Amino acid sequence: MGAILQSLGRTVTAGVVLLIVIVVLAGLATGQMIAVDMGWSRFFMRWLHVLAGVMWIGLLWYFNFVQTPSMSKIPDEQKPAVSKVIAPTALFWFRWAALATVITGLLLAWMNGYLAAALTLTKGVHAIGIGMWLALIMAFNVWFIIWPNQKKALGIVQVAAEEKTKAARLAMLTSRFNTMLSIPMLYCMVAQQNAGL
Ligand code: HEM
Repeated sequence: MGAILQSLGRTVTAGVVLLIVIVVLAGLATGQMIAVDMGWSRFFMRWLHVLAGVMWIGLLWYFNFVQTPSMSKIPDEQKPAVSKVIAPTALFWFRWAALATVITGLLLAWMNGYLAAALTLTKGVHAIGIGMWLALIMAFNVWFIIWPNQKKALGIVQVAAEEKTKAARLAMLTSRFNTMLSIPMLYCMVAQQNAGL
């Protein structure tokens, strides 16, 4: 077990293997094996979508609830550990998870047959439509405001000190804005199937 958990790649693989074992055992116990049809494909896309979304919003909340509030408490000589090592890695997974969430979400809406109807906020699918628009705005912010400004703030792109300060503030405020949007966005995501609005 230790050999598996010491490697992130092996840990993730073990998670997938565990899932397969659970599905097969549950199928054998109940006599109801998965039928790989359109309904199951939609469900599978939903699962991929939630996985990507958890990675994205988990990191967004990590930045806002953990990293940013901690920076002022970290001695200056230790700050590069965050800005040069932790933040770039977190931002890598953050922005690609955002893109993966958008792609799987749009595919899911298409497979559900309501992509255009939801995006035009048609009655009946307006809950997911509002959620999709909120999440699309958030993803736009990630790729076109937060990431370009973080590159300046973290020194990945060299700019003058004044521009660096401005970039860091804009990235921080946009990230806060996304945290605010994430609350109604997640409500709308789960409301479509469960409660409506
Ligand atoms: C542009 C980005 C996004 C799009 C296009 C999108 C699209 C969708 C669609 C079409 C559904 C299915 C709704 C239904 O019929 O029940 C859905 C469900 C869901 N989405 Fe998103 N979504 C996006 C972003 C996110 C994000 C960032 C999260 C964060 C975790 C998220 C989490 C969820 C959850 C938890 C569900 C409910 C799954 C269920 O009830 O089984 N989505 N999304």
